[in-house]
Amino acid sequence: MGNAVCIGAQWGDEGKGRIVDRLSERADVVVRFHGGNNAGHTVVVDGATTILHIVPSGVLHPGKLCVIGAGCVVDPEVLLQEMEMLATRKLLPDPKRLVIADEAHVILPFHKRIDKAREQQRGAGKLGTTGRGIGPAYEDKAARRGMRMHDIIDRARVPEIIRASAMYANSMLEAVGAEALRGDEIEEMIARTRAHGEKLKPFVDDAGALVADAAAAGKNILFEGAQGALLDLDHGTYPYVTSSNCVAGHASVGVGVGPQLLGRIVGVAKAYATRVGEGPFPTELADPLGTQLRDRGGEYGATTGRPRRCGWLDLVALRYATRLNGITDLALTKLDVLAGFGDLQVCVAYEIEGRRVDRFPHDVAMLARATPVFETFPGFGEVPDRPRSLDDLPAAARSYALTIAERLGVRLSILAAGPGRGQEIVLEDPLA
Ligand code: GDP
Ligand code: IMO
Ligand code: MG
Repeated sequence: MGNAVCIGAQWGDEGKGRIVDRLSERADVVVRFHGGNNAGHTVVVDGATTILHIVPSGVLHPGKLCVIGAGCVVDPEVLLQEMEMLATRKLLPDPKRLVIADEAHVILPFHKRIDKAREQQRGAGKLGTTGRGIGPAYEDKAARRGMRMHDIIDRARVPEIIRASAMYANSMLEAVGAEALRGDEIEEMIARTRAHGEKLKPFVDDAGALVADAAAAGKNILFEGAQGALLDLDHGTYPYVTSSNCVAGHASVGVGVGPQLLGRIVGVAKAYATRVGEGPFPTELADPLGTQLRDRGGEYGATTGRPRRCGWLDLVALRYATRLNGITDLALTKLDVLAGFGDLQVCVAYEIEGRRVDRFPHDVAMLARATPVFETFPGFGEVPDRPRSLDDLPAAARSYALTIAERLGVRLSILAAGPGRGQEIVLEDPLA
């Protein structure tokens, strides 16, 4: 019995959704602690694919309490759509199953407009954001003019907050040469936001207190991260990052409970590397092998549909993620995708200006100059569809997975060899 944090150890899309779905079997509460609908977490059950953007990935297990924590930014329109999709499948809405933190911030339509307008203005220097308004919403939060969930459910407060922040939004839109919000648009936004608030009201509560009470009552809490360590606002490849902290330590802040509740730290990593959006990616394969990885791995964004950039596994980056998060357990996904590739390369260090570098550089200009120092691992053929134990895997596949965990100094707890629920070997359940 215990708690765990599940976080991405690379640039996002590591397969957190499917690992959270698996770990939810033993969890009572599953809570998202940061980010918004920039996330796209895929869960495949009996061949049916569900992509969750803001509702925690534990929702496909009936009876679990799903919580959207204080550190999240919530687009009410997207959340309501997701709730509707889940309702048609009899999974939601049930206020007893979904709680939205009253402290979580609201993504408003102008946040999306600013996000997109800025990207357009940046041109070739764009960040490659998801365009979901994440950065501008977190900016308003830090500037202390944001709207929180307890505001959106209060009819009287909505106009005042929207009018004040629309004024700032217009100055930003004008600065990037985009169309400012017209008065009638602002009034329509007020009406729409009030309607959203009314629908969401039954779900808004003191999420931190509920999670803390559940933990005190001996329930198992699973904290679900979004994005990945290298997209973390402080520690990622700044400025090519998201606008929130993605690392495990933030789970306590983003929920409103003490760090002693976090439990084991499950780092999810793909058996290779991908990145979507701009920014340096030292092991990127901008060649037919990269295209083959993308095709085999179905590497297209779960949120935007953009093709993901693909490359070899980067142990420099993974060692950094292990340290940043305090990873105790590795969940390695997509091992099946590497089957049939021939010899596999793994980056064990970088070479920068003729020097061998073992640490992940913080300066993206330096990271962009890094060339990988590769170690060759023997490739392997077919990986069984539903391996039951490591013994079911080809020896080279088993050795690849175990060596990665060993090099990171963590235990290999989960190994996934297919997208579906059950296509993973759980060597040790971190919540057991
Ligand atoms: P997340 O954002 O970390 O939850 O990951 P995404 O859902 O964005 O991307 C992971 C993709 O890989 C999804 O399409 C998953 O269905 C798929 N996937 C996850 N684990 C595996 C695996 O072990 N093998 C294969 N082939 N696909 C997987
Ligand atoms: P999940 O949870 C992969 C990337 C974007 C862009 C950068 C900033 O599914 O792993 P943002 O819209 O957040 O301001 O974009 O971060 N990004 C992700 N990449 N997976 C994600 O989420 C991502 N969320 C944001 O592509 O490079
Ligand atoms: Mg994703």
